[in-house]
Amino acid sequence: MAPRDNFAPPSPTANLSYNSQSFMPNQAQNRAIAPELSTVVQKLRHARTVLVLTGAGISAESNVPTFRGEGGWWRSLNPADLATYSAFQRDPRLVWEWYDYRRGLIANASPNLAHRALAGLEGSAREVFIITQNVDDLHESAGSHRVVHIHGSIWRVTCLAEGKTYEDRRVPLPGLPPTCACGALLRPDVVWIGESLPAASRAQVEDYFHESWIDVALVIGTEATFSYIGDWALRAKRSGALLVEINPNPTVLTSYVDVKLQGKAGAILREINKSLSLDPPGI
Ligand code: OAD
Repeated sequence: MAPRDNFAPPSPTANLSYNSQSFMPNQAQNRAIAPELSTVVQKLRHARTVLVLTGAGISAESNVPTFRGEGGWWRSLNPADLATYSAFQRDPRLVWEWYDYRRGLIANASPNLAHRALAGLEGSAREVFIITQNVDDLHESAGSHRVVHIHGSIWRVTCLAEGKTYEDRRVPLPGLPPTCACGALLRPDVVWIGESLPAASRAQVEDYFHESWIDVALVIGTEATFSYIGDWALRAKRSGALLVEINPNPTVLTSYVDVKLQGKAGAILREINKSLSLDPPGI
């Protein structure tokens, strides 16, 4: 049995340290990024509808590890052992140990500047719709109102016998693997590799695309490994949105975006909000 600390990623802070090229809100770098940043600010100033696609990178500054970047889970752990249904069938306790460990990390995490700035972007004349791949609820804790968790929630569990899903926020869980009152095994209410996206979340996204004329689409802190992320980003662009990527590194989407803001999400989004004279709580 792997003790909990065996799940510690190689260097939990390493993904915060590769920002030599990053946007920093100092004068020199402001000048370098000013044209790109100002394009985004101008568009956001008049935007009524903003789509935001987020991934693990937006929670990195809250010390929640990413998956593929430096210090990411998949640098030292094999997703086939921890994030598939067959891994769960093989060793539910091992899978639950990893989730229990992550629940502990997330329970201690607070929303960072990036989460708070996105919440501050919402306003009476501007609607912000967030599709997140993250299973934490840091967007909601920051105050964002319209958030779809396309990969589920680490705070919910599903009974394998009854199929019912409910919230369980106990950290650590009292026994692993956890079981339902009916005696059956519980699984985390998350999407594992190879599983379909939750139909209800997918429907929410589809409804949004049908009902909304998107002015700006921000893709923040994701490798866009899964094709639906790229599809949604490009769909927004095709329908006229300015497509913006915020990430310290290039991704598969970079060559398709209208504007790339290279750097950490917290500093960049704070600068955007300041330029829009928005004052989110705590910034
Ligand atoms: P990844 O770990 O694949 O990518 C994280 C991205 O965040 C990278 O592109 C980093 O460059 C970027 N990044 C790191 N720090 C950042 C910062 N401070 N500001 C902005 N960007 C930063 O995470 P995802 O793309 O979210 O799925 O991964 C998607 C899915 O793969 C996860 O939901 C999970 C995983 O397997 C499942 O488990 C099904």
